[in-house]
Amino acid sequence: MAKWKKVTIALSVGIMMLALAGCSGAKQETTTKPADKKIVLGFSQIGAESEWRTANTESIKASAQAAGIELKFSDAQQKQENQIKAIRSFIQQKVDVIAFSPVVETGWDAVLQEAKAAKIPVILTDRSIKMSSGNAEDYYVTFMGSDFVEEGRRAGKWLVDFMKKDNEAVNIVELQGTVGSAPAIDRKAGFEEILKQHANYKVIKSQTGDFTRAKGKEVMESFLKSAKADGQKIDVLYAHNDDMAIGAIQAIEEAGLKPGKDIIIVSIDGVKGAFEAMIAGKLNATIECSPLLGDQLMTATKDLVAGKTLDKRIVTKEGVFPAEVASKELPNRKY
Ligand code: AHR
Repeated sequence: MAKWKKVTIALSVGIMMLALAGCSGAKQETTTKPADKKIVLGFSQIGAESEWRTANTESIKASAQAAGIELKFSDAQQKQENQIKAIRSFIQQKVDVIAFSPVVETGWDAVLQEAKAAKIPVILTDRSIKMSSGNAEDYYVTFMGSDFVEEGRRAGKWLVDFMKKDNEAVNIVELQGTVGSAPAIDRKAGFEEILKQHANYKVIKSQTGDFTRAKGKEVMESFLKSAKADGQKIDVLYAHNDDMAIGAIQAIEEAGLKPGKDIIIVSIDGVKGAFEAMIAGKLNATIECSPLLGDQLMTATKDLVAGKTLDKRIVTKEGVFPAEVASKELPNRKY
């Protein structure tokens, strides 16, 4: 009898262990890949609007190759509809992970619900999103990139410290990034937060230059013309990226003024072009925003496929570079 009892207990334990092994096996199948199969990552890039974006694309491509990840790369040419199409095609192709840098903050509800239904994890790189209903965080596993509000604050703080004007009026023109994009919204908000503490600093004109040199130049030309017509003096240009500032520098020179002297310029990114402009005395400061997200993205992709839990937010560490450190820093710049 005792012997029979022992056999029954051993059998029950065995069945329980088999059941548990079965459960964990089923869970693993959805997250792991056979070792001989490459992980497939679908990445939808915004476009090639700036030096920053080009460096970001190069970083992602090089890191994917180094990590042995098969990258399906799609360039949306700055159109949200193209990004949505690309994400849908990644879902159809059943890639392991989808990553994208959203051109604008809103309008992703439907496609992200589709990715969720297909159980494909989504990583946001560089820019974040807002959902029209529900919590955006339920639709992505991690968001890696810069703190754009902080970048705007850094630009504002640098400016106030540099100008050292407590009462005298300081007239600022602002070149905004792409309308509706996270960096344009946040960099504006961060900068304004600082200006609120300094009533003599005023943004007298603000318009989008879509993060491109050509648009930056065009909009700066119109700022200069209308300021002249209104009898206003432009003291400062705040550009949401270096490319627009570089375009604007050309417009300022063509108007017979000295960029960096007649008009103080602060912009964001820290690309090599900005360091060259600082060395030439035409740009006064750049606030760093690193595009080198490739390695982080590949690590996150591998971790996800291995079933690891990722931090919901991975913030890039960045600095502020005034013109006086430009020649020393230029040789160290990687983008
Ligand atoms: O989202 C990052 C921004 O996008 C960069 O500041 C800008 O240069 C780019 O186009």
